[in-house]
Amino acid sequence: MKSNRVRPIAWLVASLFVMALALAACAPNARELLISPRLGEQLAALEAGNEVVVAAPTEAPKLADLAPEQITAGLPEDVAAALAVANPDNGSQIALARGCVGCHGLDPAVTMTGPTWYHVGDTAVSRVPGESPALYIYHSIVNPSSFVVPNYPNGVMPANYGEQLSKQELADLIAYLLQQNAANGG
Ligand code: HEC
Repeated sequence: MKSNRVRPIAWLVASLFVMALALAACAPNARELLISPRLGEQLAALEAGNEVVVAAPTEAPKLADLAPEQITAGLPEDVAAALAVANPDNGSQIALARGCVGCHGLDPAVTMTGPTWYHVGDTAVSRVPGESPALYIYHSIVNPSSFVVPNYPNGVMPANYGEQLSKQELADLIAYLLQQNAANGG
């Protein structure tokens, strides 16, 4: 008889204990890390006893955030001079005549051999740290292998546009590509 009365109390104690355990497991832990692509890096830092600082994602700078001299910094002098008087509409015609548009398009939803030119003026701002967007685009045209866009093949884009096109034609192309940016509605 006695054991019949004790049992419910034992059950109650046991279940309270289990609930306390469950609560402890759920308690917020300041060192808990969210699953993120940087988790490995963060765990390694924890292991090494370093403080883990999770950086807030920052917006990539856009072309419109830059001053004119920051847009063209580092260009060879003759290209910079040609860019100062460049005609982007002519650049668009050259892209057509030279077959660039066979591999590049302005619609980001269309997959082509080369990366889309949709907002390429903004993309160019941060492709290569330390390279201004105009310099990056210039390098991309005259020496496509100097930086290979992730997930695209190296050696497919013709490497001789620098010899085939005049400095003014290159500058017109650069002006046209810089025009493809969010602030421009392009
Ligand atoms: C046969 C295909 C092909 C042709 C033609 C071609 N490209 Fe490309 N282009 C590519 C590929 C592939 C890449 C990416 C690989 C790399 O970075 O080299 C690329 C990359 C670029 C980039 C860098 C884009 C970015 O998002 O960073 C620019 C700018 C560019 N091309 C401009 C041109 C211009 C201007 C022409 C014409 C004068 C041209 N391309 C002709 C295939 C082509």
